[in-house]
Amino acid sequence: MELPPFEHLLYYEKVHGARLNISYSNIREFRLDGFRQRLPKDLDLNWTFRNGTSELRRLIARRHRTSPNRILVTTGATEANFLVNASLVRPRDRVLVDSPIYSPLRDVPRGVGANVLEIARDCDDGWRLDLDRWRKTAGRRARLLVFANLNNPTSTALSRGDLRELADIAEECDGHVLVDETFRELAFDDTPPSAAEFGPRMIALSTVTKLGGLGTLRVGWIVAAPDSIDRFAQLKDYTTGGGSVLSQTIATWALGRWGFFVQRAKRILAVNRKIAAEVLREMPELRGEVPLAGTVLFPHSTVNVAKLANRLLKQYGTVIAEGRFFGVPDHFRLGLGGDTRDLRKGLANLRRLLRSMS
Ligand SMILES: Cc1ncc(COP(=O)(O)O)c(C=O)c1O
Repeated sequence: MELPPFEHLLYYEKVHGARLNISYSNIREFRLDGFRQRLPKDLDLNWTFRNGTSELRRLIARRHRTSPNRILVTTGATEANFLVNASLVRPRDRVLVDSPIYSPLRDVPRGVGANVLEIARDCDDGWRLDLDRWRKTAGRRARLLVFANLNNPTSTALSRGDLRELADIAEECDGHVLVDETFRELAFDDTPPSAAEFGPRMIALSTVTKLGGLGTLRVGWIVAAPDSIDRFAQLKDYTTGGGSVLSQTIATWALGRWGFFVQRAKRILAVNRKIAAEVLREMPELRGEVPLAGTVLFPHSTVNVAKLANRLLKQYGTVIAEGRFFGVPDHFRLGLGGDTRDLRKGLANLRRLLRSMS
């Protein structure tokens, strides 16, 4: 197994002390006291459940309109992605990956030795999904087809029709479809259905990290057919075993009032979306709308993005995520889920610098 360095994460480590980061994809942090709940004094810190606690799995299953025996709780969506690939994909298998995409979804199958084919979407074509191309490239032998719904970094959605067709393609090539649904519910009233609803060849994964602002809980999950869940759990016995009961208790509180978290995210995004749309109109060097769904946008820049990011950091202490992390170097990612004042300041810095560089 040979995994390439996770460049995006390493970059965030490097710039951690910067004053403003306007590129994060999460909704801003939620703090423990926001729950107004106390951890039970007699919480057993010795024993943990292999597939996750039953109450947590019940709550997750409800969000995917499925049953708890199709849920495996993992250490974040990060472990979920790793388990699916390491269980299903063998060296030289064909894996098709939507592009642009959050890099681990492309690089973990590469790391396990797959022949990864990126199916690029075109910004000038509104990031349109070309399912005929997917069908042709999958042929009769693709092992795995990989998406994020909503996509990170473009926030585009897979529709019910897309998912149905992808399930057919998986049947034709005797493979599986993996859909990272970390951002799915951030489409609010237009939330697409979970891939889990479309049969045994469809695998969904998700997490409390982004919508909840609860990243350090490290609670994610996989939704799949029970026999696939068994395979993933067998591998998890060697990665984390059972997850932290402390984290799962707090994640259970969060999922027990997920409607509150969805509304909180909606409120934050509504304000920030408006600000970003206004400022974007004053930046002719950038092309790309503020999407109606999701937490991120991915504009094209006529100014060199590497130079822009570098000077923005050095002169203004402001961080953006270069498009090279997603395989598209003339774009960059902005995040809309953070503190509104920070976003305003960061965008003003960006506008000032773009003017001076164009
Ligand atoms: C699409 C996507 N999936 C998964 C993750 C990571 O999730 P977790 O914190 O649960 O490991 C991210 C983080 O940026 C992401 O963008």
